[in-house]
Amino acid sequence: MSILSLQSLSLDYAEKGNRQSRRVLDGINLHIASDEFVVVIGRSGSGKTSLLNLAAGFTQPTEGRVLVDGKEIDGPGVDRAVVFQDDALYPWLTAAGNVAFPLKLQGVTKGERQRRAEELLAKVGLDNAGGKNIWELSGGMRQRVGIARALASGPRFLLLDEPLGALDALTRSRMQKFLLDVWTESRTGALLITHSIDEALLLATRVIVLAPDPGRIVADIRTEFGKALLEGKSVKEIKSLTAFKNLHDELTALIHADEEEIAA
Ligand SMILES: Nc1ncnc2c1ncn2[C@@H]1O[C@H](COP(=O)(O)OP(=O)(O)O)[C@@H](O)[C@H]1O
Ligand SMILES: [Mg+2]
Repeated sequence: MSILSLQSLSLDYAEKGNRQSRRVLDGINLHIASDEFVVVIGRSGSGKTSLLNLAAGFTQPTEGRVLVDGKEIDGPGVDRAVVFQDDALYPWLTAAGNVAFPLKLQGVTKGERQRRAEELLAKVGLDNAGGKNIWELSGGMRQRVGIARALASGPRFLLLDEPLGALDALTRSRMQKFLLDVWTESRTGALLITHSIDEALLLATRVIVLAPDPGRIVADIRTEFGKALLEGKSVKEIKSLTAFKNLHDELTALIHADEEEIAA
């Protein structure tokens, strides 16, 4: 079991034309175990991407620390793989070539790379697509290749920034189930960002709500709907549960807490 810890994180951005900086994240404490599926939800601009970038090691916090298993990170690492919404696959490589690419960087031999790429593609349900060119793949398939590539380096945590945001509703719904399956099978901790309350509730073992200005955690709620989905309950059944509706209402109120005042 691994733990990704964000400890007392704060982040300031310099403001253009202003000597003072602006606080974007404040006092973030979040500990994610590698058997958890943590979903961070919040309005646009609440600091979700900033938080993920800090966890990935792409940026450094103004205050606080990011640790993996008690050791402070000093940048991106193979223990944390990142998937973005419009993940850029290399168009000059095949699907298998894309998945094998991180392994090449690690110095894995060609035969072994090919074997592992096929294995990973099978894991994401693309058994026979290894030889396909990127432009031959649908949006959902591309995202699967991106996730297989992220898994290739054997990360302990998958960090996903709105990975399904660009997909149509039906594909998105299929991909949600797919993400849960991958998470169960790969035993990789997940930190997923979304602004869809339904998606948060269907996937998470814990939902974290981020309130804006400055971005801070205002709720940390354990949920079990993902488990029900994995056990074969349909999305429709789950969404009709009273517990689901209540939590949906609660999250809506939390996320949009101060908007009504503005509208009124
Ligand atoms: N590199 C940056 N420099 C300055 N301000 C930024 C930068 N990145 C994001 N911001 C600002 O920080 C706030 C949080 O942004 P972001 O983390 O992207 O939020 P979210 O992903 O929740 O929409 C926003 O107000 C955004 O304009
Ligand atoms: Mg964002």
